[in-house]
Amino acid sequence: MHKPVLLEPTISHLVTDTKGIYVDLTLGGGGHLRALMEKLDSEARVIAFDKDWEIMREIQQEFDTSTVKFINTDFKFLTEVLKREKIDKVTGIMADLGVSSFQLDEAERGFSFHEEALLDMRMNRNQPISAWHVINNYSEEEIIHLLFVYGEEKYARQIARKIVNQRIDNPIDTTMQLVEIIKEAVPASYRREKHPARKTFQAIRIAVNDELQAIELMLPQAVEALKPNGRLCVITFHSLEDRIVKKFIQENSRDCVCPPDYPICTCGHTAKLRPVTKKPIVPLSEECEENPRARSAKLRVASRV
Ligand SMILES: C[S@@+](CC[C@H](N)C(=O)[O-])C[C@H]1O[C@@H](n2cnc3c(N)ncnc32)[C@H](O)[C@@H]1O
Repeated sequence: MHKPVLLEPTISHLVTDTKGIYVDLTLGGGGHLRALMEKLDSEARVIAFDKDWEIMREIQQEFDTSTVKFINTDFKFLTEVLKREKIDKVTGIMADLGVSSFQLDEAERGFSFHEEALLDMRMNRNQPISAWHVINNYSEEEIIHLLFVYGEEKYARQIARKIVNQRIDNPIDTTMQLVEIIKEAVPASYRREKHPARKTFQAIRIAVNDELQAIELMLPQAVEALKPNGRLCVITFHSLEDRIVKKFIQENSRDCVCPPDYPICTCGHTAKLRPVTKKPIVPLSEECEENPRARSAKLRVASRV
């Protein structure tokens, strides 16, 4: 089962009108959606996105489709979808980023560095680029870059070198082959810390699913879609995601973005958001004990001005 993270604070900050229109950008196992539905009146409407059709097909069966509309696409198409659904403004938008436990637990999806599977990691299995493609076709420099940037992996060079040396003879096909290559590439001391493949797998997953760009494209669309006082609630699981959300909320919460030494404002910028909490909301220690996935979670909430 996917245990929804930061469930109570997310839903209580999100719902400002029980008859409103809401968007769940990341349906996953439906945990947040289920809790949202419990709070809403029957007149409310919800649009639920997920680009993973296999998950959506399972989960949507338990919801009343006259209230919830399921959209199997990337949330970076938020504006287009709302336009098609003839929705002008919405009351609240939530996103619980990253992968779900369903995706991690299904070994054949290739997300897990604990399970043998073909290198895949696609959330949307109709897209052509998979982890296999990245590992076997990207240049050494490209692999170094993505391991540094998306994985913050300090042994990016060594791992990338080993990957390109290994694939000369035969393609690298499976998760466990990749795990072995990573183990051989990093020093023994590093192997004794957290799992040595953790950062590489994160980096490849982010690249395969173009995760950070989707967040960057979605956030301005979410702001434009919100009614005044409508809420944006975003849960992130690593610093790369959180940095994007934090910076976006900060920049959109300022009235003027002129350099500080300008005597008068010339930018004409006006704030579109107001942060609801100064600091991100993090799970209590009980939630982290019960659900290790919650440990790195941060919830940021902003209100549309
Ligand atoms: C952490 S899970 C959400 C879990 C859900 N809140 C729950 O409680 O069960 C994230 C989900 O978002 C989906 N997802 C991630 N990035 C996406 C994107 N750019 N567009 C659409 N869906 C995305 C993934 O396929 C995954 O199912």
